[in-house]
Amino acid sequence: MRETTKTPVRDPGRPGDLRLAPSVLSADFGLLAEQVGEVAPAADWLHVDVMDGHFVPNVTIGPPVVASLRRHTPLFFDCHLMMTEPGRYLKDFADAGADGCTVHVEIGRTDELLDEMRAMGLRTGLAANPDTPFEALEPHLGRVDLVLCMTVFPGFGGQEFMEDVLPKIEKVRRELDRRELAADLQVDGGVDERTAPLAAAAGANVLVAGSAVFGRDKPWEAVESIRRAAEDWNTF
Ligand code: DX5
Ligand code: ZN
Repeated sequence: MRETTKTPVRDPGRPGDLRLAPSVLSADFGLLAEQVGEVAPAADWLHVDVMDGHFVPNVTIGPPVVASLRRHTPLFFDCHLMMTEPGRYLKDFADAGADGCTVHVEIGRTDELLDEMRAMGLRTGLAANPDTPFEALEPHLGRVDLVLCMTVFPGFGGQEFMEDVLPKIEKVRRELDRRELAADLQVDGGVDERTAPLAAAAGANVLVAGSAVFGRDKPWEAVESIRRAAEDWNTF
């Protein structure tokens, strides 16, 4: 029995609310629409990992797959662009049905890319690798809808959550609150029932989970159990 029956929607929701974003990276790409359909009633967003073989040593999917998925689900598409030159493809992602795009701060041209995304009607996200300091994100916090703190080095699913990123997540949360900025704070990498409460306690509110969702027999139940674990963080 599925525990959740809510209708999936493209609305991103209220900034700061807890949201679960299954990552399609760990789905069976041959059954993508079917597997997304299974988690959609439990999920808030769909996290789409785009890898270019340059920024990260892996290649995944691009705008045509986003466009195909768009025909099968009304979920909010949160596209994580692990790319050296995302600017060349932003328009293609927007046209394909992406709702938000997240670029990495390490590649530079951040202000320009954020402006381009905003002009295209995309929700704007800015990501930092585990070893990229808070100070690299800080100047941009007032201009983004989402800050993504990677808790693994990007490129592959199934890696272990890096707890030493937690102090940076706390810093971002403190700064967002201090400046009363309505941005979401997302974590991505190694999130499961054990680590979701750690991320939530540090101030993250959008949790990406790949292998902990699609690696299970009943992925929709995994989304709910990770959600419950995050909701209960203050009882740990
Ligand atoms: C890693 C990707 C993640 C990945 C997470 O480069 O950005 O979104 O899918 O997978 P898990 O949850 O298995 O660590
Ligand atoms: Zn990702």
